[in-house]
Amino acid sequence: PSNRTRLIAGNWKMNNDVAGAAKLADELACALPEVPEGVEVVVCPPAVDLTTVNDRIQAAPIALGGQNVYWEASGAYTGETSCDMLKSAGATYCIIGHSERRDYFHETDEDVNRKAKALMAAGITPISCCGESLEVREAGKHVEFVVDQIKKDTEGLEIADPSKYVIAYEPIWAIGTGKTATADDAQEVCGAIRATLVDVFGAETAAGIRVLYGGSAKPGNIAGFLEKEDVDGALVGGASLKAADFAAMVEKA
Ligand code: G3P
Repeated sequence: PSNRTRLIAGNWKMNNDVAGAAKLADELACALPEVPEGVEVVVCPPAVDLTTVNDRIQAAPIALGGQNVYWEASGAYTGETSCDMLKSAGATYCIIGHSERRDYFHETDEDVNRKAKALMAAGITPISCCGESLEVREAGKHVEFVVDQIKKDTEGLEIADPSKYVIAYEPIWAIGTGKTATADDAQEVCGAIRATLVDVFGAETAAGIRVLYGGSAKPGNIAGFLEKEDVDGALVGGASLKAADFAAMVEKA
């Protein structure tokens, strides 16, 4: 319903070694020789697979993204990957603040904010994740919780091109559980995110920022989400690991 370019993003999480990534990338390139007009596609493999996947998707209309980044330029940060490293591997997007990273690796809103700033300075589009736990949802505090995350995650950000900053709303209770939020649930929060973006960046910028839904999105339910005014695409986990499913989701976008 909006004129924003839709974005279908695959988050492979910690799946696929180099050979597996090459195979899936080949299958995707084959399944998606073209994508519908007004739709963008990105796949986010593990860091060790980035260059392999990049080589395999060259001819396809598929962009590459990282799953995490560190904001320092280089140096003694064992185990980390910089923005320039992602860029040199071909990435033009990067997921930040995924709930799994917040939960298991203690990523904070302050970290997410610093990562967004570093990525944008490097010309990489952040896909900044937010979303509430089941406990927060059951207490009826989900809108308030997500709005607070958005305010912290966007603090001091300067957005010159709103198409180069993406938010993904992923209710934690719907991730990998097979339990999807309804399209109305997604719209409720994505609409509140958009309203917050209006407060933070002004109406024009807010109107250009893509807000994705994530959490057990699959070929059978994606269309319902995309009908909603403030849902501009999907961040797909499990279903992005099967080329046919992911391609079917792109076709439906
Ligand atoms: O980032 C995508 C995600 O967390 C959703 O995962 O497996 O529920 O689609 P899944």
